[in-house]
Amino acid sequence: MIGDRKVLFSGMQATGNLTLGNYLGALKNWVNIADEYLTFFSVVDLHSITVRQDPAELRKRARALLTLYIAAGLDPEKNCIYYQSHVSGHAELAWILNCFTYMGELNRMTQFKDKAAKHADNINAGLFTYPVLMAADILLYQADVVPVGNDQMQHLEITRDIAQRFNAIYGDVFTIPEVYLGKVGARIMSLQDPEKKMSKSDENPNASIYLMDDTDTIIRKFKRAVTDSEAQIVYREEQPGIRNLIDIYVACTKKSVEEVEREFDGKGYGEFKLAVGEAVATELRPLQERVAQLSKDKAYLDGIIKNNAEKAEYYATKTLRKVQKKVGFPERVR
Ligand code: TYM
Repeated sequence: MIGDRKVLFSGMQATGNLTLGNYLGALKNWVNIADEYLTFFSVVDLHSITVRQDPAELRKRARALLTLYIAAGLDPEKNCIYYQSHVSGHAELAWILNCFTYMGELNRMTQFKDKAAKHADNINAGLFTYPVLMAADILLYQADVVPVGNDQMQHLEITRDIAQRFNAIYGDVFTIPEVYLGKVGARIMSLQDPEKKMSKSDENPNASIYLMDDTDTIIRKFKRAVTDSEAQIVYREEQPGIRNLIDIYVACTKKSVEEVEREFDGKGYGEFKLAVGEAVATELRPLQERVAQLSKDKAYLDGIIKNNAEKAEYYATKTLRKVQKKVGFPERVR
């Protein structure tokens, strides 16, 4: 809480090509619920360097992601959209919280295990303490709610544990955040392997829909989506591929699962896949057009970036000063 307003914090990494999973699992929900909260949407570039990045590419992607937040419908006058690296409080609070987090807890993080396996030549300390930085992001703004996809649940749990541990020692310093999972789309799966989540780091481009894919590409990828040989469009455990396509269709059309099952009763997979592809293309086209338009307005974006960094800094500093005082750092002489 800040004053009498509930706070929402969320963020995304500017690494790889953003996928439909990022959009349906996170960004679309952000837009839907933003009005109810005081919001902070960060482009989390500090997190990105836990794996090696090309500097120019990272800068470009970070700006593209910030543009995408706005293009998706977040008004930057009302929502604080900013780069994490522009607010030094994230790193400062992360250091303090590192001292309240146990190695054993971090060792259990599945994302760390996955990423360590994938980047065996660069298992750096930042990758290990990544969840602590994420906790700092959230706690710095006293967030009540954090809308994320299902894969971030474990990180939210550790954030709550760290906050509760800190509060138990120093009093009520941090708001304990709740996770917000959307009703649909919290777990969009790979189009090539429906047991795996759709991920921007997947090596097979046919496994993911990228937000900037054109209509033909989107339709082609859905046509090739791996399903099964049951030949019926029903939402059930044994048909993970079809279930995933139904989830995507539902998220884009706002129809219910039952409506979709009825709509495609007795119809073939080919027809259904085409309909899903078209629904996704219809959803993404306006987004792509707004990205193209906004990207041209450099001065506008620069203004947003500057003003919102200042706004974020203001709130971040409030929490940070409180925490610094609690742990016993000397007060600043004015
Ligand atoms: P990131 O950048 O991997 O993903 C951004 C958001 O997209 C969601 N998401 C998905 N949702 C549904 N289906 C999928 N296949 C899918 N893939 C990704 C993620 O759950 C996430 O909500 N560590 C975070 C970024 C972060 C953050 C934070 C988030 C840093 N600090 C503080 C919330 C609060 C991450 O890497 O997300």
